[in-house]
Amino acid sequence: MANADVVVAVPDELSDEVAAQMLVNPLTAVMLRREAEEHQAIGYDGVLVQTAAGSSVGRLVTGTCGLQGLGLINVVRSDRGAAELRKRFPDVPVVSTEHPGWDDEVRGAAAGRPVSVAFDPIGGKLAESLLDLLTPGGKLVSYGQIAQEPISVHASKLLHTSLTLRGKNIGRWLSEVSAERRASDVAAAKLIALALKDQFEVAATYGLGALADAVEHAVRPGKVGTVLVSPW
Ligand SMILES: NC(=O)c1ccc[n+]([C@@H]2O[C@H](COP(=O)([O-])OP(=O)(O)OC[C@H]3O[C@@H](n4cnc5c(N)ncnc54)[C@H](OP(=O)(O)O)[C@@H]3O)[C@@H](O)[C@H]2O)c1
Repeated sequence: MANADVVVAVPDELSDEVAAQMLVNPLTAVMLRREAEEHQAIGYDGVLVQTAAGSSVGRLVTGTCGLQGLGLINVVRSDRGAAELRKRFPDVPVVSTEHPGWDDEVRGAAAGRPVSVAFDPIGGKLAESLLDLLTPGGKLVSYGQIAQEPISVHASKLLHTSLTLRGKNIGRWLSEVSAERRASDVAAAKLIALALKDQFEVAATYGLGALADAVEHAVRPGKVGTVLVSPW
């Protein structure tokens, strides 16, 4: 039995595959967008940068930035991933970290605009590079922990450039936001699902008897889309 407070009606226009992905990742995109919009430059000349941009969350962030006209630079770890993302979003610059000097490529893509906010689900050295890319007053929003190593930052960096570090996760969102905010965020997530149906790709669907295969597939490098588990 499910708690009625957390049950959400699925719009008729959405397939079961999109419905299965309708909440966590779109809500993450909504939560990140709100964090970005708190920065005074976003919506004006400020540019966002995001790592792991080819992920399911990253594609929704790109789609929603496009709908809102927010400046975004996507960062991925491979040239292959960059080519895939360029095909999908031809107007959004993509930089691959596969080669040294990628950070200068990000600066070049910003074309003089301030790099105000960075979204990062990786952490570690990659997050440290993002701190170097942010303009003074910038904000790093950390929402995942893929890297094993810690994010190392000298206090002088925070002091002299007035950087903000934020961590965001959907679990805290669920327990902390008001019922009204939750309802409006869920409505925003539904709109994202309806507007960006094509970004809810399914990498593969596994039966309950193949959970180990599903987990292996979910972390496979280069996977595009979400791995679903179906009882049917
Ligand atoms: N905070 C929250 O509430 C919240 C909510 C949802 C998701 N998340 C986090 O968001 C991240 C993305 O989730 P998702 O479901 O969208 O993932 P996904 O579709 O499975 O994609 C994972 C992405 O991470 C990239 N990646 C993996 N290891 C990497 C590394 N060492 N360096 C750079 N890139 C790496 C992959 O790149 P390749 O394409 O090159 O393999 C891929 O693009 C996950 O870390 C997840 O835990 C957090």
